[in-house]
Amino acid sequence: MSCPARPDYASSMSSLVWIELDADAPDRNVRELRSCTAGAPLFCAVVKSNAYGHGMKEIAGLIPSADWLAVNSLDEGLELRGLGERRPVLLMGHAPLDRLGEALDAGLRLTVFNRETLDRLERLASPARPAVIHLKVETGTGRQGVMPEDLVPMALRARSIPGVVTEGISTHFANIEDTLNHGYAERQLAVFRSCMDSLAAAGAAPPVVHAACTAAGILFPSTHFGMVREGIGVYGLWPSRETYLSALMGGRPVPSLRPVLSWKTRLVQVKEVPEGSFVGYGCTFRTTRRTRIGVLPVGYADGYDRALGNSAWVLVRGRRAPVIGRVCMNLTMIDVTDIESPSLEEEVVLLGRSGDEEISAETMASWAGTINYEIVTRISPLLPRIVVGGTGGGRPCSSR
Ligand SMILES: Cc1ncc(COP(=O)(O)O)c(C=O)c1O
Repeated sequence: MSCPARPDYASSMSSLVWIELDADAPDRNVRELRSCTAGAPLFCAVVKSNAYGHGMKEIAGLIPSADWLAVNSLDEGLELRGLGERRPVLLMGHAPLDRLGEALDAGLRLTVFNRETLDRLERLASPARPAVIHLKVETGTGRQGVMPEDLVPMALRARSIPGVVTEGISTHFANIEDTLNHGYAERQLAVFRSCMDSLAAAGAAPPVVHAACTAAGILFPSTHFGMVREGIGVYGLWPSRETYLSALMGGRPVPSLRPVLSWKTRLVQVKEVPEGSFVGYGCTFRTTRRTRIGVLPVGYADGYDRALGNSAWVLVRGRRAPVIGRVCMNLTMIDVTDIESPSLEEEVVLLGRSGDEEISAETMASWAGTINYEIVTRISPLLPRIVVGGTGGGRPCSSR
């Protein structure tokens, strides 16, 4: 197995806003998630969308225990190959027809759910330049996937094309993390099983079968098949409270997941304003005492959600300080009146731990009215990702 080299060491001191990644957590999480799967299916780590905002380049280098990687787009797959990633990489989204040749040349596995993709592969693929494909079947998510009644004809057509190798068959669950009642997921699983029976009857059953996202991987051994395809758990986050409760109530092994990411910044101005002063655009906050304002150089352009205005808290020296006023494009104001002598460029934690306090992605999501997936995924890819801890003996290390 080969993967990109671990990131080089550097320092966060020159950054005003940055992401810290716990060097050991991603692979530890993979191993924890694996311990929920008996029969040792392959573990495919989903690193799409910049590894859920964590930094695809960094995360790929921190999960040597993952057997496969999955991305959404062709460009993400090509980026992994450009980084020297040699593990199997599965494209889960649509690869543009006129760029399919790039996928073949880079040895990327394609997810296929359109007849047109096969038509184009017929012209491009050959035994010397194979197209390795995974058919995706629609079982009730109403998203990407070939309808069950079209699956066998598509599999037979794929088999008839020299150079096309149908390696896998997959589906994706619609609401497995949304509810304690998994009846809908069970119906999807039944449809998937009947699709596989039809493929087997037609002599076209692919070897690699996969359906399980993190919630399914934790909760339902019946979904594991030959490979699990897990994302959010790799980053140390639970898919939902319902998934956690379902694992506890169902007597399933509960993996101990460790969040990978912290989001930090620094105070770029500290000043006192009189009682009755307005703060920020729209004058939505007015001080009720003489107030010490701390200005942070982070805003919605960085992915710090505008909905966090007047609702979130940050951590300064292990204490909570409230966000006051609206979040601007590049700036956010906090009330540091109760923090003793805060200094210019002092560290502030937006997400993560400081002392005994923690702001989790789930907490921030509840303040912003969204889910933990969106909180981390929307963090700007332009911010530096600094890998800390691990074999580097606790020194910060950076790879950007
Ligand atoms: C097709 C597919 N498979 C697997 C996953 C991983 O899901 P999770 O992050 O819940 O593990 C996703 C995530 O969106 C997905 O779109």
